[in-house]
Amino acid sequence: MTDERAGVRVHIETYGCQMNAYDTSAIHGLLAARGYGRAESPLEADVVLLNTCSVRDLAEHKILSRIGELRSLRRRGLAAADIIGVCGCMAERLGDGLVAGGRGPDLVAGVDQYDQLPDLLDAILRGESAPAPVAVGHRDDVHYVAPPEAYPTNNSHLVTIHKGCDYRCTYCIVPETRGPQREKAPLLIEAEIHGIVARGGREVTLLGQNVTAYRSGDLDFAGLLRRLETIDGLERIRFLTGHPCDMTDDLIRTIAELGKTCPWLHVPAQSGSDAVLRRMKRLYTRERYLAMIAAARRWIPDVTFSGDIIVGFPGETDADFRRTLELVEEVRYDLLFSFKYSERPGTPAAKLPDDVPPEVKKERLAELMAVQDAIWDDLAAAQTGAVWEVAVEAAARRPAGSWRARTPNNRKVLLHGGDHRPGDLVRVRVTGCEASTFEAEPIN
Ligand code: 5AD
Ligand code: SF4
Repeated sequence: MTDERAGVRVHIETYGCQMNAYDTSAIHGLLAARGYGRAESPLEADVVLLNTCSVRDLAEHKILSRIGELRSLRRRGLAAADIIGVCGCMAERLGDGLVAGGRGPDLVAGVDQYDQLPDLLDAILRGESAPAPVAVGHRDDVHYVAPPEAYPTNNSHLVTIHKGCDYRCTYCIVPETRGPQREKAPLLIEAEIHGIVARGGREVTLLGQNVTAYRSGDLDFAGLLRRLETIDGLERIRFLTGHPCDMTDDLIRTIAELGKTCPWLHVPAQSGSDAVLRRMKRLYTRERYLAMIAAARRWIPDVTFSGDIIVGFPGETDADFRRTLELVEEVRYDLLFSFKYSERPGTPAAKLPDDVPPEVKKERLAELMAVQDAIWDDLAAAQTGAVWEVAVEAAARRPAGSWRARTPNNRKVLLHGGDHRPGDLVRVRVTGCEASTFEAEPIN
């Protein structure tokens, strides 16, 4: 270890998706290997990195004000924060623009440049680098691996299986910020999971913009799942996100057959109107989406769904929006993430007039959320008395003697009573549901 980094502690704030959560632990791993320490709070950190998200305008605004806030804490001597860095999608999208004017971060590293971070930090600490180095641009060969100890044992360990996206949904900035789809080799994925299992992990969540589009040589996503199923000691495999177009009958049947692959599908519909889906370039129709849902229900016992919806896409009429509500009623998602359309510079949709007024977007979002809440209340109430097998995750903070647990189909459960260890599988009876968490008691 050289002197300049002795005792230097790094804090990373993570915004946006799970992919960023994974990258954050990979960055911690890369920096730890170079001798950098870790700080739990930005106030105690010498280096604060913001791992950012560009998917909506609001997310970017929050991060820009966070940079200002950190600079102000530093000025007032309330935080060391000698180096403030921006990583992730905003770094990639805005690059030099982030540091222009001298009021931005001290360092910018895009999503494929994290292996440069130790050198960049070393150089800044030696006072040898440009005022604010900017490393951006996509590369083919980069697959950082998060160290297995980065996650608490028995919660789901994130494993990114590819980077980027080859779809071109017209509203989405991700193909630009994350670049084209590049696969992590199956052997690397397996080695990573072996490492997790060796540290006591039993569950993984495979991550990617479209994991269902994974392809390495002849191996597609169904084939990868089959291979990962054979890993001894691994008990559950979850995955995020699935594109409806890749949810083929073959993949659905594979998920149904495999014992370790969990029956929970995150399949964003984005809209229930064919006209809007066409303008979004989602490449499926409402009918095809619903046929995929029906096939999954037919073949995968106890399957649950979650999804994403965008309201107020350019040209979305009230009739289009009603079609979305009807679709949501038909699918009956366990969990729905709904967003107001946010125009992203440079995307194809940015050429369309953003013509749904803000107050209409707001009303539609509220109505959609109310419909989803009613669906969930109904769905959840119907589970009282059901018998499930849950995996215990950890002792719950309250009430005393209760445990956080999860079903294979991703329902959260608060388990009252019994003496358990994280990772235990317990048979329970559902006694009720509070918000998104079921209450249950162990049975023999
Ligand atoms: N505006 C609003 N929501 C968006 N998403 C992606 N791009 C936008 C945008 N421009 C949503 C989609 C996607 C989720 C991750 O974010 O629903 O599935
Ligand atoms: Fe964006 Fe569409 Fe790719 Fe998802 S599939 S990351 S929404 S372009």
